[in-house]
Amino acid sequence: MATEPPAPCDALVLFGGTGDLARKKIYPALQALVRHGQLALPVIVVARDERDPTALRALVHDSLAAHGAVDKAAFEELAARLAYVAGDYREPATYAALRQALGDRARPLYYLAIPPAMFPVVVARLAEVGAAGARVVVEKPFGRDLASAQALNRTLRGVFPENATFRIDHYLGKEAIQNLLYFRFANAFLEPIWNRNHVRSVQLTMAERFGVEGRGAFYESVGALRDVVQNHMLQVAAILAMEPPLSTQGEALRDEKVKVLRAIRPLAETDIVRGQYRGYREEAGVDAASRVETFAAVRLAIDSWRWAGVPFLIRAGKRLPLTATEVVAELHAPPQQVFGEVLDEPPNYLRFRLGPDRVTIALGVRTKRPGQGMLGRETEMCFCDQSAAASDAYERLIGDALRGDGTLFAREDAVEAAWRIVEPVLGGDTTREYAPGSWGPAEAGALAAASGGWREPG
Ligand code: BG6
Repeated sequence: MATEPPAPCDALVLFGGTGDLARKKIYPALQALVRHGQLALPVIVVARDERDPTALRALVHDSLAAHGAVDKAAFEELAARLAYVAGDYREPATYAALRQALGDRARPLYYLAIPPAMFPVVVARLAEVGAAGARVVVEKPFGRDLASAQALNRTLRGVFPENATFRIDHYLGKEAIQNLLYFRFANAFLEPIWNRNHVRSVQLTMAERFGVEGRGAFYESVGALRDVVQNHMLQVAAILAMEPPLSTQGEALRDEKVKVLRAIRPLAETDIVRGQYRGYREEAGVDAASRVETFAAVRLAIDSWRWAGVPFLIRAGKRLPLTATEVVAELHAPPQQVFGEVLDEPPNYLRFRLGPDRVTIALGVRTKRPGQGMLGRETEMCFCDQSAAASDAYERLIGDALRGDGTLFAREDAVEAAWRIVEPVLGGDTTREYAPGSWGPAEAGALAAASGGWREPG
């Protein structure tokens, strides 16, 4: 039986509308939604400091200019939709003012772009003013371990049903990740080889050339494992490893993702190498004796029929040689080297470049070098190579939340399953220093040694 599509939201309420995330990501996404005719509703900004409408307009304008570009017509339309409610998030008066600003709008989307410590306070107050018919978007980090994520889920569940709760993981909104999902399940040739019989290892690298860039205090409270591995990297691993969903509509896709996350063995200390770039301790907001990791390499084992025995290796770090997110799945080598060549790496691999600049899907093969000898060379066959900038992840995700489509958001059980994987290694402090511009501590190499070592992004 076909289910009714959910009713679209009729207002957007942005908590934390003067903060960093709003400036960098949310206002540019709202401008893009206006430009594409997808945002015909009031946008109510809630923040602590007093600001008149002219100052809010200027803040949005400056944010757009600094993080993208001002599209004059779209900006004017967005500015005309803005309203401002100033007040303390703890005070009932703030919510009374918000209620008034909403007028007869009954299906707002509450976007919590605020520090996680404030989530329970704001959610409880929203319940008091009435959250029936509303939706909520929650930014990461979603908890800092399994227990806090479960507590946060309980708080949200007390007020918003799961289908009205949208946990953002912006990686899921990226064009490159959509492309990965599409490629996996829109082609038949991949399925026969996409398993332990043909794949020897899968590597995910999320390298960033830059450091913590003024976010030292925030980073001190998370580290690489919580910042990007528990969420972005495990979501990508789930898309790579999941079984085919019956459809990408409704819950089918999210059901398959959670199944594979549950099949990943919780990490042990022998499965992780932590690193910290030299100079991190001198960053503003960072403890001079900090042990927080700015690099993490982990080896996942998936206890499933498809993947038993195939290592899924993840490494993510700041101040590495370049900025690139890439997946490489190496296939087993041919059973015999009939041409007598000695190869360092298996000749066949699939490479998925997931940004930031390009989206690439390529197959590595060996072809014969022209000439008399039977000597080969590594050749890449590119299935797709395009600019990554088609649309911004935040534009996609905010649009989806307004329409009530939760497919690209992390579901409660998936978030908890991901925390279960990293939980055993959260407290560890075996952090090793690495030189900025290197590939992290040398020990990370040992983690991948049994499967032939890391492949640097192409
Ligand atoms: C964020 C992390 O979630 O993702 C940052 O907090 C990281 O530390 C960022 O730099 C990377 O996202 P993107 O879209 O730039 O790859």
